[in-house]
Amino acid sequence: MAPRPLIIAPSILAADFANLGQDVQRAVSGGADWLHIDIMDGHFVPNISFGPDMVRTVRRIAPETTLDVHLMIEQPDRYARAFIENGADILTVHLEAHHNVHKTLELIRNMGCRVGLAINPLTMIENVFPLLPLVDLLLCMTVNPGFGGQSFMINVLEKVRAARTFIREHNLNVDIEVDGGLDADTAGPSVTAGANVIVAGTFLFKQKDMGAAISNLRYKATEVTSAG
Ligand code: DX5
Ligand code: ZN
Repeated sequence: MAPRPLIIAPSILAADFANLGQDVQRAVSGGADWLHIDIMDGHFVPNISFGPDMVRTVRRIAPETTLDVHLMIEQPDRYARAFIENGADILTVHLEAHHNVHKTLELIRNMGCRVGLAINPLTMIENVFPLLPLVDLLLCMTVNPGFGGQSFMINVLEKVRAARTFIREHNLNVDIEVDGGLDADTAGPSVTAGANVIVAGTFLFKQKDMGAAISNLRYKATEVTSAG
């Protein structure tokens, strides 16, 4: 199968909420392929972010951009419809959340949305193998979910490598996304390991020139790949 396109997905968790419209515009005009929206419920993770209304707001500001919605919530099956109706293009749920994972993945698919499955850094990769034929995207968390600005956990890349091998061997059509602590140093090794979707919050939003930062991230990610 041909190499998958590299996707850069700024995480709006790191945006300035007082200037959300401007920050989303900055990401879109800077060349973001997708926008990553982190939903936290204060139960699955020890933090609360925002809900379906935020997805609707971002959809309004960025009507053309793929919205990649990452649910760090318990019972995601109860809320999937609200996120899809408000504009999610990809809806990702956690393997570790309290729900019938298989049923939730089917539910999302039946609502016409792209399906994502996420795993925490300490979850064994073998646990997702049986579910990979049902998803479009596998999200390997490279920090413990809940907060932006944490340090990248390099050991997770072993799981990314194993997942990419499994996906290749079984001829599946699945993107691998890494999320947490991604920057110009960690993007390259992630892509070399087999990831093709790079989520970055703090690294991108703290820069004055988001376009230059996205280009730099893209360059660093592909530089390592083409070097072998
Ligand atoms: C963490 C979130 C991430 C976060 C990444 O729970 O899932 O998407 O926004 O932020 P940075 O890039 O700052 O680590
Ligand atoms: Zn996320």
